[in-house]
Amino acid sequence: MEVKLAVCSCSNYPAGLFNVYGAIAASEADVVLHLGDYIYEYGAGQYGSNPDTIALARLHKPENEILSLDDYRTRFKQYRSDPQLQLAHQKKPFICVWDDHEVANDAFKDGAQNHNQNEGSFQERKQRAIKAYHEYIGVRTLIDEKIYRSFSFGNIMDLHMLDTRIIGRDKQLSYSDYFTQTGLDAAAFQKDWLNSDRTILGKEQLNWLGSAIGSGKGAWQVLGQQVLMGKMYVPAELLMAIVQIVGEVNATGSASPATFKMFQTLLGTLTQLKARFLAGDPTLTAQEKARIQTVLPYNLDAWDGYPIERETVYAMAKGKKLIALAGDSHNGWYSHLNANDKSQAGRELAAPSVTSPGFEEYLGADPASLGGFEQALALLVDDLQYLDASRRGYVMAKFSTSKVVSEWRYVASITSPTTATTIGHSETITA
Ligand SMILES: [Fe+2]
Repeated sequence: MEVKLAVCSCSNYPAGLFNVYGAIAASEADVVLHLGDYIYEYGAGQYGSNPDTIALARLHKPENEILSLDDYRTRFKQYRSDPQLQLAHQKKPFICVWDDHEVANDAFKDGAQNHNQNEGSFQERKQRAIKAYHEYIGVRTLIDEKIYRSFSFGNIMDLHMLDTRIIGRDKQLSYSDYFTQTGLDAAAFQKDWLNSDRTILGKEQLNWLGSAIGSGKGAWQVLGQQVLMGKMYVPAELLMAIVQIVGEVNATGSASPATFKMFQTLLGTLTQLKARFLAGDPTLTAQEKARIQTVLPYNLDAWDGYPIERETVYAMAKGKKLIALAGDSHNGWYSHLNANDKSQAGRELAAPSVTSPGFEEYLGADPASLGGFEQALALLVDDLQYLDASRRGYVMAKFSTSKVVSEWRYVASITSPTTATTIGHSETITA
């Protein structure tokens, strides 16, 4: 007996054709697990639009950023008019949770990056978004705002669907709040980052999850949730280089050749140091070691921003087989989930997006040039085992009591119709 899940997220209508949904419809999946960003809130021509959007007739409707109940409904209607998404719903049952864009970018309990005061009350906007969500997406819960829930798949697995966005999340930390004239105030950052009061699930959901995992009878305890759980602790100087590139891309559309060259050189240097470290090279100096061991969390919007609660979840899963599933990042990942005490808490399978752009856009880089970056990151980040930085697709995860066989499947294009996929990576996890 097997349970076959197609795991997907981040279907941005103007960004391209929903070929991934077509591929999922044609796949052997028993269930589609949609981890959010089923819709995006932006107006026509804003984030997600690209030079192909108009030719593909995929400009967002309504034209404005969605705010009113009618806006959210119109947006859902547009997404649901897509024939490949329609086919996926026709062929497969969906289990869904929202991420941020079903309300607004980088949402948390009391606000969002993409919500400002002249857009009215965030709480009221959230209620309208949630109402429209439940009109279009089938989620059986008693209270509209509470979508966390569990599914039992016999003796194979218990699937716990989480809400890391709306119900309990504290506001994200931001590195920009910790920069002083002399650079990052690491002590001040650490103090806030390690504050044990900070929560991503909220206390009520966290308690519920503890008992749900504890009483789970399946061979696998599976978390269906939004943001990356694995520790993406990257060398601090590499993080600063990425911040510089992203800044230049945002300001001018691309990083300068000099900055990109510096970045590539740094990747090469750091990977050499890490390889020497892993090989136990006795000539590695303390200063060289510090370059690879001085690390910072990459994305404070992910579980990396809530490290104490992550350890709590890992502790809850002690003695169980934990698999975390994630979306949100637009890229494909495989990580070992290691607790701070070095014990292995589980594994993470993270799905690439249906259409939303990934690192190739954040870094303004030709996808063909990203192979070195992917391999360097997988080497430099201890938890990370695999990264695809530029392709669109989904994860097929086949669960049985004895193993999980997973494949990262990618479509060749989102600008011309195709539902063929290639397998970029596969992993077999044994119980
Ligand atoms: Fe997304």
